[in-house]
This record gives sequence, structure tokens and C-alpha cells, in this order.
Amino acid sequence: MDEQAYGVARSGAQSSAQSSAQGRRENEAQSDTHGDQFRRSAQHSAARGVARRVVEGDGPNILGEIWSPSCGVAVWRRDLGEPFQTWLDTLALEDLPDARIVSSPASAGTVLDAYVSRHGMAEGEFRTQLAADAAMLAGAFARIMKTVSVRIRLDVISDNACRKFHLDNVEARLLCTYRGRGTQYGCSQGNADPSPIHELTTGDVGLFRGQRWPTLERCGIVHRSPPLSGCGETRLLLVVDDGGPDMCGM
Ligand SMILES: [Fe+2]
Repeated sequence: MDEQAYGVARSGAQSSAQSSAQGRRENEAQSDTHGDQFRRSAQHSAARGVARRVVEGDGPNILGEIWSPSCGVAVWRRDLGEPFQTWLDTLALEDLPDARIVSSPASAGTVLDAYVSRHGMAEGEFRTQLAADAAMLAGAFARIMKTVSVRIRLDVISDNACRKFHLDNVEARLLCTYRGRGTQYGCSQGNADPSPIHELTTGDVGLFRGQRWPTLERCGIVHRSPPLSGCGETRLLLVVDDGGPDMCGM
């Protein structure tokens, strides 16, 4: 790996314990500012370099740094906290929610909760918390990426889906693993795997640039699902994409 080209910047003084509660408030208050600021500067940049920088922080505002020059992924390090994490970790496999919705950001929580309810997930405090957390992250994605709708997936993964390192065919994608090992990522090495390989931890939020990132910088940070085959592990992964211009309400 090109150590000089791969930079990890830490930002934010919040503790993990503070981040969830403060995060929602600060995210709504400041993500617009950060997203606007970085999008403007990035779009006006003529840089044609490779974005290999990893930016990390303990609060949600770090996600807006995806627009900063040479940033390939912005990571919000966080802990989902107890007893929510234990509830996620001990859900029976047949009760894990496999969801696909497209919604306005404002309605995402309600639409997602209704979806998992229709598909048999029992009502309860933690189901509501899961839908609210996913909706909060979808809202952050929408504000940062300036989308009018969001496509939300909750994937239940127990095999080696997406085992090869890749860039997604989108402008950007937000990932958060609610249960199990997080997404792996590293500096692109052509056909070879990155070295070293980094891994998000459970609850972390990664906003990754994709193939269609709208500036001239090529993204040099690739990612994949962690290899699971034979581990007996089942992951629950949140994926948030742009829902498209005409997809609201579907
Ligand atoms: Fe991917």
C-alpha cells in the first residue's frame, strides 16, 4: 500500500456515548452547511487526483467531509449502546428484517417501520429505534448528497456476498452494519486486494464515494463485505442510496 497516499484524519471531540443523542441534533443543524460547503468547493475543483483519504470522527458531521478533496470515505465511529445492540445480536435469524423501501427522507422512519411490521417483525421499542436510526442516517445521506428521496435496504447476509473489493455504481453509498462484522475497505491496488485491509466496527457509519462521484477525482478507496463463509455469522447491513428524482412515495 502507498502509505503516503493513504491518510486517516480524525476529527470531532464527542464521545461515542454522546454521539447518538447529540448526533441527531447536530446532524440536522449542521450537515446542510457542511454538505453545501464541500460540494461547492469540490465541484469547482479541477483536481484530477485519486481520493484515498479516510476521514474519521466521533460525530455525524464528519460524514459531510466526503466532499473534501481527496476523501474517499468518511467514517462516523459510534457505538449503538446497550440494550439495543444486545437486542440486535440476539434476534432470531427468521426475525431479522430484510427490507427494501424508497421514500422521502422525512417519511423514511414511518415507511420503514411499516414495512418491517408488514413482514412480521414484532412491534416494540427496539424495532422503533432501529427504524428511527436508519431514517436518521438516510436523512443525513440525503442532506449531504442533496437527494430528494432515499433508497433504503436492510440486508440479512450470511454468505460471502460482495466478496471482491469494488466501487459501487453510484455517486455515494452509506453503509452501517447493525449486527456482525462491518464493511472492509482499503486503498485500491488494481486487481490485488488492498493491504492493509481495514474494517468498520458494528454500528459505525461509512459514507463511501462510488464510481459516479460527481467530481474529477477518481475514488481510490474500495470496499467489500467481510468474508463470512463457515463462520456461522449473520450480518444485518443498512444500505442507503439516492432514491432517484421520481421515486418518492414508492
Ligand atoms: Fe459495495
